[in-house]
Amino acid sequence: MYLRRRKRVAYVTSFKCPVIGNVGGTADYVRPFQETETGRFFMEDEQMNEKLEQIKAEAMAKIKAASDLDALNDVRVSQLGKKGALTSILKGMKDVSAEERPKIGQMVNEARAEIEAALEAQKKAMESKVREAKMKSEVIDVTLPAKKLKVGHKHPNMIALEEMEDIFIGMGYEVVEGPEVEKDYYNFEALNIPADHPAKDEQDTFYVNGDILLRTQTSSAQVHEMEKGRIPIKMISPGRVFRADEVDATHSPSFHQVEGLLIDEHVTFADLKGTLAEFSKEMFGADTKVKFRPHHFPFTEPSAEMDVSCFKCGGKGCRFCKGSGWIEILGCGMVHPHVLEMSGIDPEKYNGFAFGIGLERIALLKYEIDDMRLLYENDIRFLNQF
Ligand code: DAH
Repeated sequence: MYLRRRKRVAYVTSFKCPVIGNVGGTADYVRPFQETETGRFFMEDEQMNEKLEQIKAEAMAKIKAASDLDALNDVRVSQLGKKGALTSILKGMKDVSAEERPKIGQMVNEARAEIEAALEAQKKAMESKVREAKMKSEVIDVTLPAKKLKVGHKHPNMIALEEMEDIFIGMGYEVVEGPEVEKDYYNFEALNIPADHPAKDEQDTFYVNGDILLRTQTSSAQVHEMEKGRIPIKMISPGRVFRADEVDATHSPSFHQVEGLLIDEHVTFADLKGTLAEFSKEMFGADTKVKFRPHHFPFTEPSAEMDVSCFKCGGKGCRFCKGSGWIEILGCGMVHPHVLEMSGIDPEKYNGFAFGIGLERIALLKYEIDDMRLLYENDIRFLNQF
């Protein structure tokens, strides 16, 4: 009644133009439904067909041109996504007469299916290309000679420490560890170094607060061990210590000590001498002699420093021992009764000896290294020599 009925016309019941969409991201606009002289809209199947062919052709060209999977995905979004030309046509379907809707819907769906199939085929082709390239690049030539694995090796400090540990373990000692961040009490007070003691000046350190500090000596480990109340004690305790020292050839703000402690009944200075003489022989050679010089440490009484005969010249005197024939290696003494008492050990019943060895000093002597800084610089050319 309204239109000249041509063959296969889609009637449109609305007055507004139903679809004005951006097709495939290009600048031209489509009007798949056209206005008649009566003001109604119609659209012919052929015209729609043409439009769909155009959309498909454009989609196929873009699929072909996509250089990788990401680009292909962009094509999928631009062609089939919310803003794609096909969606735009589907959106306009509400304005197509009920009679024509299934037909046009089917045409759009077919076009969509074709584009999807092309996308999928292209995706598969791309994926297999990527896979092939990956397999090619990962081919392993098993006939090539193997790469040599560079295995690191022990630091001179560690070699010296392990040797010392082995010697003491062989004499029945246990290796224990103490905390590096320590209470003033364990580092000083319980070792007979009260707040105003001059020995505290010699061991200035780094404070976390007034009461907590970085330990200046592994002797603090003695106190922890004694507080456990298990006697006899036979322990060595290696570890890092800290002092507010400037770096030079013989000083570092952080270095290592090995502490020793033996507590039992009826321990004598002869036990101390015998133990350390035996240790020195094993560490520096069977001919090594030891010499004890009186000294003072607040936590031992009597106290001594021990020298070993120069293992370079055998005691005759050389550049190594600065002509004296002796090399100082440790401090030691009989544990002060007050120190025992403070840690809850009865000095009437028990006594013992203690010693402290500077680990770096042993490593420097053993490997004839004349500058302590070399031990910390991590220069591979230096470390490779050990
Ligand atoms: N703690 C001392 C220091 O750092 C070394 C030392 C000397 C430890 C005598 C001892 C000892 O156990 O008995 O200088």
